[in-house]
Amino acid sequence: MKDQFQSGPLHGKVNNKEERFSSSGFILAAIGSAVGLGNMWKFPYITGQYGGAAFFMLFVICLLLVGLPVLLAELTVGRGGRGNASTSLIRLSGRKLWGGFGFITILGAFVILSFYAVVAGWTLHYAMLSFTGKLFEHKDYALLFSNFNASWMPVFWQFIVMLLTGFVIIRGVSAGIEKFNKILIPGLVILLLVLCVRALSLEGAGEGVAFFLKPDFSKLSAESALVALGHAFFSLSLGMGAIMTYGAYVDKRQSLGLATLAIGIGDLAYAFLAGLIIFPTTFVYGLEASQGPGLVFVALPAAFSAMPLGAIFGGLFFVLLAFAALTSMISLLEVPVAFVREAFGWSRKFSVVLLTLLCFLVGLPSALSLGDKAPWLTFGGKSFFDWMDFVCSNIVLPLGGLVVTLFVGYAWKGAAEEAGLSTWWLRLWMFMLRYVAPILVLLVFLYSSGILTF
Ligand code: PFF
Repeated sequence: MKDQFQSGPLHGKVNNKEERFSSSGFILAAIGSAVGLGNMWKFPYITGQYGGAAFFMLFVICLLLVGLPVLLAELTVGRGGRGNASTSLIRLSGRKLWGGFGFITILGAFVILSFYAVVAGWTLHYAMLSFTGKLFEHKDYALLFSNFNASWMPVFWQFIVMLLTGFVIIRGVSAGIEKFNKILIPGLVILLLVLCVRALSLEGAGEGVAFFLKPDFSKLSAESALVALGHAFFSLSLGMGAIMTYGAYVDKRQSLGLATLAIGIGDLAYAFLAGLIIFPTTFVYGLEASQGPGLVFVALPAAFSAMPLGAIFGGLFFVLLAFAALTSMISLLEVPVAFVREAFGWSRKFSVVLLTLLCFLVGLPSALSLGDKAPWLTFGGKSFFDWMDFVCSNIVLPLGGLVVTLFVGYAWKGAAEEAGLSTWWLRLWMFMLRYVAPILVLLVFLYSSGILTF
Protein backbone atom coordinates (compact mmCIF):
# COMPACT_ATOMS: atom_id res chain seq x y z
CA MET A 1 0.00 0.00 0.00
CA LYS A 2 1.28 3.46 -0.85
CA ASP A 3 2.37 5.50 2.16
CA GLN A 4 0.03 8.42 2.28
CA PHE A 5 2.38 10.65 4.24
CA GLN A 6 2.99 12.53 1.05
CA SER A 7 -0.49 12.37 -0.36
CA GLY A 8 -2.87 12.41 2.62
CA PRO A 9 -4.60 15.75 3.13
CA LEU A 10 -3.30 16.09 6.67
CA HIS A 11 0.31 15.56 5.75
CA GLY A 12 0.35 16.62 2.16
CA LYS A 13 0.23 20.22 3.33
CA VAL A 14 3.09 19.83 5.68
CA ASN A 15 4.87 17.16 3.76
CA ASN A 16 7.95 16.90 5.92
CA LYS A 17 9.51 15.03 8.76
CA GLU A 18 8.26 17.47 11.38
CA GLU A 19 4.92 15.73 11.33
CA ARG A 20 6.29 12.27 12.05
CA PHE A 21 7.34 10.42 15.16
CA SER A 22 10.65 8.63 15.43
CA SER A 23 10.25 5.04 16.58
CA SER A 24 11.19 5.62 20.22
CA GLY A 25 9.47 9.01 20.25
CA PHE A 26 6.21 7.42 19.24
CA ILE A 27 6.36 4.75 21.94
CA LEU A 28 7.17 7.31 24.62
CA ALA A 29 4.39 9.63 23.43
CA ALA A 30 1.86 6.79 23.42
CA ILE A 31 2.95 5.67 26.88
CA GLY A 32 2.64 9.32 27.90
CA SER A 33 -0.92 9.36 26.64
CA ALA A 34 -1.81 6.17 28.48
CA VAL A 35 -0.13 7.04 31.74
CA GLY A 36 -2.12 9.83 33.27
CA LEU A 37 -4.40 10.97 36.03
CA GLY A 38 -6.36 7.77 35.52
CA ASN A 39 -3.50 5.68 36.95
CA MET A 40 -3.09 7.73 40.11
CA TRP A 41 -6.38 9.46 40.63
CA LYS A 42 -8.91 6.84 39.54
CA PHE A 43 -7.13 3.51 39.65
CA PRO A 44 -6.25 3.37 43.38
CA TYR A 45 -9.70 4.23 44.62
CA ILE A 46 -11.53 1.86 42.31
CA THR A 47 -9.04 -0.84 43.28
CA GLY A 48 -9.85 -0.02 46.91
CA GLN A 49 -13.58 -0.14 46.23
CA TYR A 50 -13.80 -3.22 44.02
CA GLY A 51 -11.60 -5.76 45.73
CA GLY A 52 -7.92 -4.75 46.02
CA ALA A 53 -5.50 -7.27 44.56
CA ALA A 54 -8.23 -9.36 42.95
CA PHE A 55 -9.43 -6.26 41.11
CA PHE A 56 -5.89 -5.50 39.99
CA MET A 57 -5.69 -8.99 38.48
CA LEU A 58 -8.93 -8.43 36.63
CA PHE A 59 -7.57 -5.14 35.34
CA VAL A 60 -4.47 -6.93 34.03
CA ILE A 61 -6.59 -9.57 32.31
CA CYS A 62 -8.83 -6.93 30.70
CA LEU A 63 -5.83 -4.96 29.60
CA LEU A 64 -4.23 -7.96 27.94
CA LEU A 65 -7.29 -9.61 26.43
CA VAL A 66 -9.30 -6.64 25.27
CA GLY A 67 -7.28 -3.45 25.80
CA LEU A 68 -4.25 -4.46 23.75
CA PRO A 69 -6.18 -5.80 20.73
CA VAL A 70 -8.21 -2.58 20.57
CA LEU A 71 -5.07 -0.48 21.04
CA LEU A 72 -3.48 -2.26 18.09
CA ALA A 73 -6.68 -1.73 16.10
CA GLU A 74 -6.56 2.03 16.73
CA LEU A 75 -2.89 2.25 15.76
CA THR A 76 -3.51 0.25 12.61
CA VAL A 77 -6.41 2.46 11.53
CA GLY A 78 -4.38 5.61 12.23
CA ARG A 79 -1.37 4.49 10.27
CA GLY A 80 -3.43 2.98 7.46
CA GLY A 81 -5.63 6.05 7.06
CA ARG A 82 -3.00 8.71 7.76
CA GLY A 83 -5.66 11.17 8.78
CA ASN A 84 -7.55 12.35 11.82
CA ALA A 85 -9.83 10.05 13.81
CA SER A 86 -12.67 10.68 11.36
CA THR A 87 -11.01 10.85 7.94
CA SER A 88 -8.89 7.76 8.54
CA LEU A 89 -12.07 5.72 8.93
CA ILE A 90 -13.62 7.28 5.81
CA ARG A 91 -10.50 6.78 3.74
CA LEU A 92 -10.13 3.15 4.66
CA SER A 93 -13.78 2.19 4.25
CA GLY A 94 -14.91 4.60 1.56
CA ARG A 95 -17.98 5.36 3.70
CA LYS A 96 -18.86 8.66 5.32
CA LEU A 97 -20.89 6.95 8.03
CA TRP A 98 -17.74 5.59 9.69
CA GLY A 99 -16.34 9.11 9.67
CA GLY A 100 -19.40 10.25 11.58
CA PHE A 101 -18.68 7.67 14.27
CA GLY A 102 -15.06 8.80 14.32
CA PHE A 103 -16.18 12.38 14.76
CA ILE A 104 -17.93 11.43 18.01
CA THR A 105 -14.58 10.28 19.41
CA ILE A 106 -13.05 13.63 18.41
CA LEU A 107 -15.75 15.48 20.31
CA GLY A 108 -15.18 13.09 23.21
CA ALA A 109 -11.45 13.90 23.28
CA PHE A 110 -12.20 17.61 23.29
CA VAL A 111 -14.71 17.34 26.14
CA ILE A 112 -12.60 14.95 28.21
CA LEU A 113 -9.71 17.39 27.87
CA SER A 114 -11.90 20.25 29.10
CA PHE A 115 -12.45 18.66 32.51
CA TYR A 116 -9.23 16.63 32.69
CA ALA A 117 -7.45 20.00 32.58
CA VAL A 118 -9.29 21.03 35.73
CA VAL A 119 -7.88 18.09 37.71
CA ALA A 120 -4.46 18.60 36.10
CA GLY A 121 -4.63 22.18 37.38
CA TRP A 122 -5.31 20.95 40.92
CA THR A 123 -2.10 18.92 40.82
CA LEU A 124 -0.02 22.03 40.06
CA HIS A 125 -1.73 23.96 42.85
CA TYR A 126 -1.11 21.16 45.33
CA ALA A 127 2.52 20.84 44.21
CA MET A 128 3.00 24.55 44.98
CA LEU A 129 1.22 24.26 48.31
CA SER A 130 3.35 21.30 49.23
CA PHE A 131 6.75 22.70 48.28
CA THR A 132 6.03 25.97 50.08
CA GLY A 133 4.88 24.03 53.16
CA LYS A 134 1.51 25.82 53.10
CA LEU A 135 -0.29 22.53 52.60
CA PHE A 136 0.69 21.47 56.09
CA GLU A 137 -0.52 24.57 57.87
CA HIS A 138 -3.97 23.03 57.58
CA LYS A 139 -5.31 20.04 59.40
CA ASP A 140 -8.65 19.60 57.71
CA TYR A 141 -7.77 18.58 54.16
CA ALA A 142 -11.35 18.07 53.09
CA LEU A 143 -12.09 21.67 54.04
CA LEU A 144 -8.94 22.89 52.32
CA PHE A 145 -10.00 21.10 49.14
CA SER A 146 -13.53 22.50 49.19
CA ASN A 147 -12.27 26.03 49.97
CA PHE A 148 -9.89 25.74 47.06
CA ASN A 149 -12.71 24.72 44.77
CA ALA A 150 -14.84 27.58 46.01
CA SER A 151 -12.10 30.05 44.98
CA TRP A 152 -11.00 31.12 41.49
CA MET A 153 -7.69 29.30 41.78
CA PRO A 154 -8.86 26.16 39.95
CA VAL A 155 -9.72 28.33 36.93
CA PHE A 156 -6.31 29.97 37.04
CA TRP A 157 -4.51 26.62 37.10
CA GLN A 158 -6.79 25.15 34.48
CA PHE A 159 -5.78 28.03 32.20
CA ILE A 160 -2.09 27.46 32.91
CA VAL A 161 -2.19 23.73 32.08
CA MET A 162 -4.15 24.40 28.90
CA LEU A 163 -1.51 26.95 27.90
CA LEU A 164 1.27 24.47 28.59
CA THR A 165 -0.47 21.86 26.47
CA GLY A 166 -1.00 24.29 23.61
CA PHE A 167 2.61 25.41 23.89
CA VAL A 168 3.84 21.85 23.29
CA ILE A 169 1.48 21.00 20.45
CA ILE A 170 2.00 24.22 18.53
CA ARG A 171 5.56 23.08 17.78
CA GLY A 172 4.36 20.05 15.86
CA VAL A 173 4.73 16.32 16.24
CA SER A 174 8.49 15.96 16.22
CA ALA A 175 9.66 19.20 17.85
CA GLY A 176 6.73 19.43 20.23
CA ILE A 177 4.91 16.24 21.17
CA GLU A 178 7.87 13.90 20.77
CA LYS A 179 10.46 16.19 22.31
CA PHE A 180 8.42 16.97 25.40
CA ASN A 181 7.49 13.36 25.99
CA LYS A 182 11.15 12.46 25.74
CA ILE A 183 11.84 14.85 28.60
CA LEU A 184 8.75 14.27 30.71
CA ILE A 185 8.58 10.47 30.63
CA PRO A 186 12.09 9.85 32.03
CA GLY A 187 11.34 12.52 34.64
CA LEU A 188 8.15 10.70 35.48
CA VAL A 189 9.93 7.36 35.88
CA ILE A 190 12.52 8.87 38.24
CA LEU A 191 9.84 10.52 40.38
CA LEU A 192 7.83 7.34 40.44
CA LEU A 193 10.79 5.28 41.66
CA VAL A 194 11.80 7.81 44.33
CA LEU A 195 8.25 7.91 45.69
CA CYS A 196 7.97 4.15 45.56
CA VAL A 197 11.09 3.68 47.64
CA ARG A 198 9.80 6.27 50.10
CA ALA A 199 6.39 4.60 50.42
CA LEU A 200 7.77 1.09 50.76
CA SER A 201 10.26 2.14 53.42
CA LEU A 202 7.54 3.56 55.67
CA GLU A 203 7.13 1.59 58.84
CA GLY A 204 4.16 -0.75 58.47
CA ALA A 205 4.09 -0.47 54.67
CA GLY A 206 3.63 -4.24 54.39
CA GLU A 207 -0.06 -4.15 55.19
CA GLY A 208 -0.79 -1.80 52.31
CA VAL A 209 1.32 -3.91 49.98
CA ALA A 210 -0.58 -7.02 51.09
CA PHE A 211 -3.91 -5.35 50.40
CA PHE A 212 -2.72 -4.50 46.92
CA LEU A 213 -1.07 -7.83 46.11
CA LYS A 214 -2.89 -10.57 48.05
CA PRO A 215 -6.07 -11.34 46.17
CA ASP A 216 -9.34 -12.01 47.93
CA PHE A 217 -11.51 -13.34 45.13
CA SER A 218 -14.66 -13.32 47.24
CA LYS A 219 -14.73 -9.56 46.83
CA LEU A 220 -15.11 -9.79 43.07
CA SER A 221 -18.39 -9.37 41.26
CA ALA A 222 -19.61 -8.94 37.71
CA GLU A 223 -19.60 -5.24 38.47
CA SER A 224 -15.87 -5.34 39.35
CA ALA A 225 -15.18 -6.96 35.98
CA LEU A 226 -17.01 -4.26 34.05
CA VAL A 227 -15.35 -1.49 36.03
CA ALA A 228 -11.96 -3.12 35.39
CA LEU A 229 -12.60 -3.29 31.66
CA GLY A 230 -13.86 0.28 31.50
CA HIS A 231 -10.77 1.40 33.34
CA ALA A 232 -8.48 -0.61 31.04
CA PHE A 233 -9.94 1.39 28.16
CA PHE A 234 -9.59 4.72 29.92
CA SER A 235 -6.10 3.88 31.01
CA LEU A 236 -4.89 2.93 27.53
CA SER A 237 -6.50 6.10 26.09
CA LEU A 238 -8.81 4.07 23.86
CA GLY A 239 -12.06 5.15 22.26
CA MET A 240 -11.17 8.84 22.13
CA GLY A 241 -9.30 9.02 18.85
CA ALA A 242 -6.01 9.80 20.61
CA ILE A 243 -4.19 6.60 19.72
CA MET A 244 -5.65 6.67 16.21
CA THR A 245 -4.35 10.20 15.74
CA TYR A 246 -0.89 9.31 17.03
CA GLY A 247 -0.96 6.28 14.73
CA ALA A 248 -1.21 8.61 11.73
CA TYR A 249 2.27 9.96 12.51
CA VAL A 250 3.97 6.57 12.77
CA ASP A 251 6.49 5.31 10.28
CA LYS A 252 5.53 2.38 8.04
CA ARG A 253 8.54 0.39 9.23
CA GLN A 254 7.53 0.50 12.89
CA SER A 255 6.22 -2.80 14.27
CA LEU A 256 2.78 -1.97 15.60
CA GLY A 257 2.56 -5.27 17.47
CA LEU A 258 5.70 -4.56 19.46
CA ALA A 259 4.63 -0.96 20.02
CA THR A 260 1.31 -2.20 21.43
CA LEU A 261 3.14 -4.49 23.80
CA ALA A 262 5.49 -1.72 24.93
CA ILE A 263 2.62 0.70 25.57
CA GLY A 264 0.67 -1.96 27.50
CA ILE A 265 3.66 -2.88 29.63
CA GLY A 266 4.44 0.80 30.28
CA ASP A 267 0.91 1.53 31.40
CA LEU A 268 0.70 -1.57 33.56
CA ALA A 269 4.06 -0.96 35.19
CA TYR A 270 3.01 2.57 36.03
CA ALA A 271 -0.31 1.43 37.52
CA PHE A 272 1.52 -1.21 39.54
CA LEU A 273 4.06 1.26 40.92
CA ALA A 274 1.30 3.80 41.59
CA GLY A 275 -0.41 1.14 43.72
CA LEU A 276 2.85 0.50 45.56
CA ILE A 277 2.96 4.20 46.42
CA ILE A 278 -0.66 4.82 47.32
CA PHE A 279 -1.64 1.72 49.31
CA PRO A 280 1.28 1.60 51.74
CA THR A 281 1.01 5.37 52.26
CA THR A 282 -2.71 5.28 52.98
CA PHE A 283 -2.47 2.18 55.20
CA VAL A 284 0.44 3.47 57.27
CA TYR A 285 -1.45 6.64 58.09
CA GLY A 286 -4.75 4.89 58.71
CA LEU A 287 -6.56 6.38 55.72
CA GLU A 288 -9.27 4.82 53.57
CA ALA A 289 -8.00 3.64 50.17
CA SER A 290 -11.51 3.40 48.79
CA GLN A 291 -12.72 6.84 49.67
CA GLY A 292 -13.25 8.01 46.09
CA PRO A 293 -11.81 10.78 43.95
CA GLY A 294 -10.79 12.76 47.03
CA LEU A 295 -8.16 10.14 47.87
CA VAL A 296 -5.32 11.95 46.19
CA PHE A 297 -6.23 15.50 47.21
CA VAL A 298 -7.65 14.84 50.66
CA ALA A 299 -6.20 11.64 52.10
CA LEU A 300 -2.67 11.82 50.72
CA PRO A 301 -1.90 15.38 51.93
CA ALA A 302 -2.71 14.12 55.43
CA ALA A 303 -0.18 11.33 54.93
CA PHE A 304 2.49 13.67 53.58
CA SER A 305 1.97 16.06 56.48
CA ALA A 306 2.81 13.28 58.92
CA MET A 307 5.78 11.92 56.95
CA PRO A 308 9.39 13.02 57.51
CA LEU A 309 10.35 15.37 54.63
CA GLY A 310 6.69 15.26 53.64
CA ALA A 311 6.80 18.68 51.96
CA ILE A 312 9.35 17.46 49.45
CA PHE A 313 7.76 14.05 48.85
CA GLY A 314 4.31 15.61 48.64
CA GLY A 315 5.55 18.21 46.18
CA LEU A 316 7.27 15.56 44.07
CA PHE A 317 4.13 13.43 44.12
CA PHE A 318 2.00 16.24 42.72
CA VAL A 319 4.63 17.13 40.14
CA LEU A 320 4.58 13.49 39.07
CA LEU A 321 0.83 13.71 38.66
CA ALA A 322 1.15 16.96 36.70
CA PHE A 323 3.70 15.43 34.29
CA ALA A 324 1.50 12.40 33.76
CA ALA A 325 -1.53 14.60 33.17
CA LEU A 326 0.29 16.85 30.73
CA THR A 327 1.46 14.02 28.48
CA SER A 328 -2.14 12.74 28.31
CA MET A 329 -3.54 16.21 27.63
CA ILE A 330 -1.10 16.63 24.75
CA SER A 331 -2.53 13.51 23.09
CA LEU A 332 -6.08 14.68 23.70
CA LEU A 333 -5.59 18.15 22.22
CA GLU A 334 -3.90 16.74 19.14
CA VAL A 335 -7.13 14.87 18.25
CA PRO A 336 -9.29 17.93 17.45
CA VAL A 337 -6.25 19.84 16.16
CA ALA A 338 -5.63 17.16 13.53
CA PHE A 339 -9.31 17.29 12.66
CA VAL A 340 -9.66 21.04 12.09
CA ARG A 341 -6.39 21.22 10.19
CA GLU A 342 -7.64 18.67 7.76
CA ALA A 343 -11.28 19.73 7.64
CA PHE A 344 -10.72 23.47 7.29
CA GLY A 345 -7.15 23.63 6.01
CA TRP A 346 -6.06 25.78 8.96
CA SER A 347 -2.45 26.07 10.01
CA ARG A 348 -1.26 24.16 13.08
CA LYS A 349 -0.61 27.44 14.90
CA PHE A 350 -4.07 28.85 14.36
CA SER A 351 -5.77 25.53 15.12
CA VAL A 352 -3.86 25.09 18.39
CA VAL A 353 -4.49 28.65 19.62
CA LEU A 354 -8.17 28.46 18.80
CA LEU A 355 -8.79 25.02 20.29
CA THR A 356 -6.72 25.69 23.41
CA LEU A 357 -8.80 28.75 24.21
CA LEU A 358 -12.04 27.07 23.25
CA CYS A 359 -11.29 24.04 25.38
CA PHE A 360 -10.47 26.29 28.32
CA LEU A 361 -13.85 28.00 27.92
CA VAL A 362 -15.72 24.71 27.59
CA GLY A 363 -13.96 23.53 30.76
CA LEU A 364 -15.01 26.58 32.79
CA PRO A 365 -18.39 25.20 33.86
CA SER A 366 -16.61 22.00 35.00
CA ALA A 367 -14.17 23.99 37.11
CA LEU A 368 -16.87 26.25 38.52
CA SER A 369 -19.36 23.48 39.22
CA LEU A 370 -17.27 22.05 42.05
CA GLY A 371 -17.33 25.12 44.26
CA ASP A 372 -20.37 26.93 45.58
CA LYS A 373 -20.18 29.75 43.00
CA ALA A 374 -22.66 28.25 40.61
CA PRO A 375 -25.18 25.94 42.28
CA TRP A 376 -27.14 25.81 39.02
CA LEU A 377 -24.26 23.82 37.54
CA THR A 378 -25.33 20.88 39.66
CA PHE A 379 -28.35 19.02 38.37
CA GLY A 380 -29.74 15.51 38.44
CA GLY A 381 -27.62 14.80 41.50
CA LYS A 382 -24.31 15.44 39.70
CA SER A 383 -22.11 18.47 39.17
CA PHE A 384 -21.39 19.61 35.62
CA PHE A 385 -17.89 18.18 36.09
CA ASP A 386 -19.30 14.78 37.06
CA TRP A 387 -21.70 14.85 34.11
CA MET A 388 -18.87 15.48 31.68
CA ASP A 389 -16.82 12.69 33.23
CA PHE A 390 -19.84 10.39 33.20
CA VAL A 391 -20.74 11.02 29.56
CA CYS A 392 -17.17 10.80 28.26
CA SER A 393 -15.83 7.92 30.34
CA ASN A 394 -18.97 5.81 30.44
CA ILE A 395 -20.69 6.48 27.14
CA VAL A 396 -18.41 8.00 24.49
CA LEU A 397 -15.35 5.95 25.43
CA PRO A 398 -16.91 2.45 25.24
CA LEU A 399 -18.85 3.47 22.12
CA GLY A 400 -15.66 4.78 20.50
CA GLY A 401 -13.94 1.52 21.41
CA LEU A 402 -16.79 -0.44 19.90
CA VAL A 403 -16.62 1.53 16.65
CA VAL A 404 -12.91 0.78 16.17
CA THR A 405 -13.36 -2.85 17.14
CA LEU A 406 -16.16 -3.42 14.64
CA PHE A 407 -14.41 -1.40 11.97
CA VAL A 408 -11.23 -3.43 12.10
CA GLY A 409 -12.95 -6.74 12.88
CA TYR A 410 -15.56 -6.57 10.15
CA ALA A 411 -15.46 -3.54 7.86
CA TRP A 412 -11.88 -2.88 6.82
CA LYS A 413 -10.31 -5.62 4.76
CA GLY A 414 -6.79 -4.18 4.71
CA ALA A 415 -6.30 -4.31 8.49
CA ALA A 416 -4.32 -7.54 8.48
CA GLU A 417 -1.80 -6.22 5.96
CA GLU A 418 -1.34 -2.91 7.79
CA ALA A 419 -0.91 -4.53 11.20
CA GLY A 420 1.84 -6.80 9.85
CA LEU A 421 1.34 -9.58 12.42
CA SER A 422 2.44 -13.18 11.96
CA THR A 423 -0.34 -15.65 11.16
CA TRP A 424 -0.84 -16.90 14.70
CA TRP A 425 -1.02 -13.45 16.28
CA LEU A 426 -3.21 -12.21 13.46
CA ARG A 427 -5.74 -14.97 14.09
CA LEU A 428 -5.78 -14.29 17.79
CA TRP A 429 -6.13 -10.56 17.22
CA MET A 430 -9.02 -10.99 14.81
CA PHE A 431 -10.74 -13.45 17.10
CA MET A 432 -10.58 -10.97 19.97
CA LEU A 433 -11.77 -8.09 17.80
CA ARG A 434 -14.60 -10.01 16.17
CA TYR A 435 -16.03 -12.04 19.00
CA VAL A 436 -14.68 -11.14 22.43
CA ALA A 437 -14.10 -7.39 22.52
CA PRO A 438 -17.42 -6.24 20.99
CA ILE A 439 -19.49 -8.24 23.47
CA LEU A 440 -17.47 -7.16 26.48
CA VAL A 441 -17.32 -3.53 25.41
CA LEU A 442 -21.04 -3.51 24.78
CA LEU A 443 -21.59 -4.87 28.29
CA VAL A 444 -19.39 -2.13 29.73
CA PHE A 445 -21.38 0.43 27.80
CA LEU A 446 -24.72 -0.94 29.01
CA TYR A 447 -23.47 -1.14 32.56
CA SER A 448 -21.67 2.17 32.82
CA SER A 449 -24.40 4.13 31.08
CA GLY A 450 -26.84 2.77 33.67
CA ILE A 451 -28.91 0.61 31.28
CA LEU A 452 -27.66 -2.63 32.85
CA THR A 453 -27.71 -2.80 36.63
CA PHE A 454 -26.76 -5.39 39.22
N1 PFF B 1 -5.14 7.44 29.65
C1 PFF B 1 -5.34 8.66 30.38
C2 PFF B 1 -5.28 8.38 31.87
O1 PFF B 1 -5.22 7.22 32.28
O2 PFF B 1 -5.32 9.34 32.63
C3 PFF B 1 -6.62 9.35 30.06
C4 PFF B 1 -6.94 9.49 28.61
C5 PFF B 1 -6.06 10.14 27.75
C6 PFF B 1 -8.11 8.93 28.12
C7 PFF B 1 -6.33 10.23 26.40
C8 PFF B 1 -8.40 9.00 26.76
C9 PFF B 1 -7.50 9.65 25.92
F1 PFF B 1 -7.77 9.73 24.64
